Amino acid sequence: MNDRESRKLLDKAEEMMRFSYAPYSGFHVGAALLSADGTVYTGCNVENASYGASNCAERTAFFKAVSEGCRSFKAIAIAGGKDGRAEEFCPPCGICRQVMREFCDPESFEIILGNDKGEIRVFRLKELLPESFGPDALAELG
Ligand code: THU
Repeated sequence: MNDRESRKLLDKAEEMMRFSYAPYSGFHVGAALLSADGTVYTGCNVENASYGASNCAERTAFFKAVSEGCRSFKAIAIAGGKDGRAEEFCPPCGICRQVMREFCDPESFEIILGNDKGEIRVFRLKELLPESFGPDALAELG
């Protein structure tokens, strides 16, 4: 991903913050997931009065994509923060990193973080989830 592509994906993630349903935490997150064929699947966090039933923005985007038959991805952009302001970077939680690991190549999949100062940080999945457990481990058993 070049800078312009990353910026474009991040703009979509920031736009998605406005759909966030976060009445309990007040922490609004948006995500934009780029598939191998160029389609962008968006997501926001969706909270629940039974807190454990809440879903993160990243997983919303992944589950939308997979449920529509897409399983090959290049990158995800994420933006979020208190009261809908992305003052800091919003790195994905551990569960979302594991969901990424199911469908993405840890060496090449890019995680693009942005804040409201226009700053961008890019990580490979391998950096955020080292020594990970993935589908390959179970495939070896079969
Ligand atoms: N959240 C996300 O949607 N993505 C992240 O990467 C971090 C956390 C959501 C979950 C919850 O609705 C709120 O932010 C506070 O944890």
